[in-house]
Amino acid sequence: MINGIPTLDDLDLQGKRVLVRFDYNVKYLNGKVSDDERILRTLPTLTHIVSKASSVIILSHLGRPEKVGEIDKNFSLKKVAEHLSNLLSEEIYFYDDLNLDHFPDNQKKISMLENIRFFEGETDNNELFSKKLAQLADVFVMDAFGSAHRSHCSTEGVSHFIDSCVGRLVEEELNSLEGILNNPVNPMLGIIGGSKISTKINILESLLEKVDWLFVGGGIANTLHKSKGYEIGQSIVENDFLEEAKDLSKNNKIILPDNFLVEQKDKSIVEKTYEEILPDDIIYDVSINSIKNLNKIISSCKTILWNGPLGFFEREEFSKGTLHLAKVISESDAYSVIGGGETLTAFNQSNLLDKVGYASTAGGAFLEYIEKGSLPSLDALKEKL
Ligand code: 3PG
Repeated sequence: MINGIPTLDDLDLQGKRVLVRFDYNVKYLNGKVSDDERILRTLPTLTHIVSKASSVIILSHLGRPEKVGEIDKNFSLKKVAEHLSNLLSEEIYFYDDLNLDHFPDNQKKISMLENIRFFEGETDNNELFSKKLAQLADVFVMDAFGSAHRSHCSTEGVSHFIDSCVGRLVEEELNSLEGILNNPVNPMLGIIGGSKISTKINILESLLEKVDWLFVGGGIANTLHKSKGYEIGQSIVENDFLEEAKDLSKNNKIILPDNFLVEQKDKSIVEKTYEEILPDDIIYDVSINSIKNLNKIISSCKTILWNGPLGFFEREEFSKGTLHLAKVISESDAYSVIGGGETLTAFNQSNLLDKVGYASTAGGAFLEYIEKGSLPSLDALKEKL
């Protein structure tokens, strides 16, 4: 048990049909899985299940397909199934029919359903669809920590109708994050990036109670800068949140970047300080000089908690700020905890993941857990035994 939630050690899987939910919401480049960290981290759970169960059905989502009831190839899990099959050297039966009544009775050893968000009812946590999923197996294993903040059929609903527990990845994530929540070692530096302040306002407020400094990058920093009356040109901003941003920026724990990489009207890319930004400029990244200003704090803090990229990470020329910060953190003596797809990719891309204290596979769920200390689909599993 972990926090009152049954684990794989509490349920007998011998000869059972097992349904497992992973978070294989991974990155693709040129039609291939380009960062398989999230897949690799599920292998201990999967190999445990495969060694005991008679069959296993894997569920996951990929992205946010707009339509339900149909397959959108851009969000298909087929390539993920192929990638996993290569990693395991095992055949995986890929079920791309969106009617579960057609699922074969004589199940193959390992199957994977198409993107669960293609199925009607999934994101509404529809009871009938949860029951249909539950009918496919004897036991449900929830190991999608990255999706544990979603109350969907495949993360939460199904657990009401079948014996359920969490997998090894959820156990590992809970153990590591509990450490930082219950026994934080200060001084602590929080780093929050990403584009929208609206999605991170609660975590910013709650982190300000825990950390000694909070460095804010990405589009969130633009909104904070604008709320202080600075020019941010045509950069991404949330004007509806300027009041909240103004209140937040009064907190003197907040550190904003002061040097940026900016795209000018003629498309040239230059470095500018916050005072040099012109009305036609677009801020796309923090510059390495901004990060240099953090060096003193980084070398004096004991813990660093980081989620979210500092710039437009998808464009290589604007990933440098995030990559440089990853390098500086990996060289520091502080215990670092990172979370979020791009943050993980930044460390992975530079082969620095092994220099991190703990790398969470989750983004939104990581932040929600730090903010509230619980997640809905894990709460649903409490007292299941
Ligand atoms: C993530 O990448 O944060 C998870 O896979 C959750 O995805 P979602 O925000 O689309 O639910």
